[in-house]
Amino acid sequence: MTGKPLLPNRIYRMDAIEGLKRIEDDSVDLIVTDPPYNIASADRTTMKNGKPLSTLKAWGHWDCFHPFDYDVFLMQVISECYRILKPGGALYMFTAREQNGYFVRQAVARGFTYRNQLAMVKKNPLPSFAKSNYRSAFELCMYLTKGKPELKTFNFVSQAECKNVFHYANSHRSTQHPTEKPLEFTKLLVQVSSNAGDLVVDPFMGSGTTAVAAQELGRRYLGFELERDYLAMARKRLKGGTRKTASRRVA
Ligand SMILES: C[S@@+](CC[C@H](N)C(=O)[O-])C[C@H]1O[C@@H](n2cnc3c(N)ncnc32)[C@H](O)[C@@H]1O
Repeated sequence: MTGKPLLPNRIYRMDAIEGLKRIEDDSVDLIVTDPPYNIASADRTTMKNGKPLSTLKAWGHWDCFHPFDYDVFLMQVISECYRILKPGGALYMFTAREQNGYFVRQAVARGFTYRNQLAMVKKNPLPSFAKSNYRSAFELCMYLTKGKPELKTFNFVSQAECKNVFHYANSHRSTQHPTEKPLEFTKLLVQVSSNAGDLVVDPFMGSGTTAVAAQELGRRYLGFELERDYLAMARKRLKGGTRKTASRRVA
């Protein structure tokens, strides 16, 4: 750990690696994170304000890395996450589908125990504009623990909810962040893998979904975000400004 310790229930405008380095070893109960996927491209289409637009234009520079730099960056993130988690603590990390297996292997090489892959399936995926490939309708999230999972929490909520496939509709968004994750799913991960009062970290807060989930479930949160506009969105949500309340039970 380097620098002054950080305070809980804050999102700092700080680089993720720099921020993670300021968190003590073995001090965090849970990490839920959705880093850049490095897929922004002139050839990939998304929707912005109801219109198709390339992901490069819609998302901007933060999702563009040289492939080598991207691997080094995510490896550093995974390594720091391992260091700060308490033994048995969980890491949930989204990555692009094509990279997921690769980063699972790297995380296991770093010491993580592989637990599962969770698929988040869109009920209403974007139409295929070119009609030359299958529509993109799911994202993957790796679920890993630091060492033995039985050392820590797994609150089995119900047979229906604790499945590794989660269905959601694109209408979940409550901000203008281009990649806001569904709050309901994030709350499920927080509820299952932490307890009231626990510390939940997200080094890539974006619009603050992880922080809102933690706050609504009575956990503490801590995280980082570089973009001023996204940080403002997150802070507004945390004050209840744009909150869409997800209908999950609180542990
Ligand atoms: C995929 S988005 C996260 C979206 C978030 N899960 C949500 O629900 O809003 C990744 C975020 O990481 C931020 N980011 C990119 N590089 C970063 C870095 N080095 N340090 C901190 N944040 C970074 C981006 O600005 C972006 O908001």
